[in-house]
Amino acid sequence: MGQFAAPELIIAKREKGELSTEQIDWLIANYTSGVVADEQMSAMAMAILLNGMNRREIKDLTMAMIASGERLNYNDLAWPTADKHSTGGVGDKITLPLAPLVAVFGVAVPQLSGRGLGHTGGTLDKLESISGWRASISNEEFHRQLAEVGAVICAAGSGLAPADRKLYSLRDVTGTVEAIPLIASSIMSKKIAEGTKSLVLDVKVGSGAFMKNIDRARELATVMVQLGQDAGVNTSALLTDMSTPLGLKIGNALEVEESVEVLAGGGPADVVELTVALATEMLRLAGKTDLDVAAALSDGRAMDKWRQMIAAQGGDPDAALPVAKESHVVYAEQTGYLSQLDALALGTASWRLGAGRARKEDAVQFGAGITLHAQLGDKVTAGQPLLTLFTDEPARFDRALEAIDGQIQVSADAQPARKIILDRIDR
Ligand code: URA
Repeated sequence: MGQFAAPELIIAKREKGELSTEQIDWLIANYTSGVVADEQMSAMAMAILLNGMNRREIKDLTMAMIASGERLNYNDLAWPTADKHSTGGVGDKITLPLAPLVAVFGVAVPQLSGRGLGHTGGTLDKLESISGWRASISNEEFHRQLAEVGAVICAAGSGLAPADRKLYSLRDVTGTVEAIPLIASSIMSKKIAEGTKSLVLDVKVGSGAFMKNIDRARELATVMVQLGQDAGVNTSALLTDMSTPLGLKIGNALEVEESVEVLAGGGPADVVELTVALATEMLRLAGKTDLDVAAALSDGRAMDKWRQMIAAQGGDPDAALPVAKESHVVYAEQTGYLSQLDALALGTASWRLGAGRARKEDAVQFGAGITLHAQLGDKVTAGQPLLTLFTDEPARFDRALEAIDGQIQVSADAQPARKIILDRIDR
């Protein structure tokens, strides 16, 4: 590996130059070991955000981040593997019903997940609302559960792409989260290092997502699909709507409750549609086609898998879920059709109610969040309940209500049907 000086590389990117493979390898290895300082990496992240990277540079960055840590494999596993990654959305609990649903069909799901930061919730926070459930398991337990149950959702160990862990915290505090080369390499380094053979990306589009418009979302998806395929992972992406929350429940225990409804063959139509679409895509990439995926939700097979998956990590699938101490109902002011029910506003409100955290060290309230009594496009009548807000601390209601002020609109006109799946990208 050549020897470089960090300022030279920063200046090269600042002047819109291209970094060589050797320069990128050097930068990431030395940032991981602490030779390149946080302030130098911050300047580089900003130069990348402003001036971009070409496809070769993004690939090199991703491979260098993978090389900063360990790489898992499932060579001893009899099942093929498939995983899903969502870029994050409000009410996005899909991983919960999806992992057991895919496992029903003989495809193992090694889902290494994170915690929530900001207005989108984290899968581990949701599952931790189940009594006894453990997010951290040993490598041995992980492989055993994958072989015996076929689905594991757990915390990613610190050994996977440590460069990303460091860089992501830096981006969070330096206004450099939204750069496509940085998002794509961050997500794909972790997923490739995780060792899955197939991967479906759920790239969210709309107010509640990183990508507010479809062209940027398509660009991000295309870059990530190519990174995956170049690394030998069968990868495709669905672009899906995040202008309004998914389903009727937002918040940790509330989202587990809704996921269990879906696993019992019920639940809101949008959550079921996306769960089945992503499962079908994961199974297709793993070589399994012509399956009646939805049937496994209605006949109890996915629910049986869910119960096994939760119990294997110490959780009690029959335990009552935590409920918040206080609630506050918001009523419709007019009669008409819900024309706006903004995802970012509702995600922010739920976060302020205590469902999310402001700093990594904060605890979440499991019962906090929001239940919607109507979805975008539904007919509502003046005076009917629109939302119920939940928290353990009533002082939080005012700030939550501020977040949704002006972000829920009722129109006299019927609204066009909502499309959940906007596009599919497989190369
Ligand atoms: N999720 C990640 O893991 N990294 C990003 O950069 C954005 C979302």
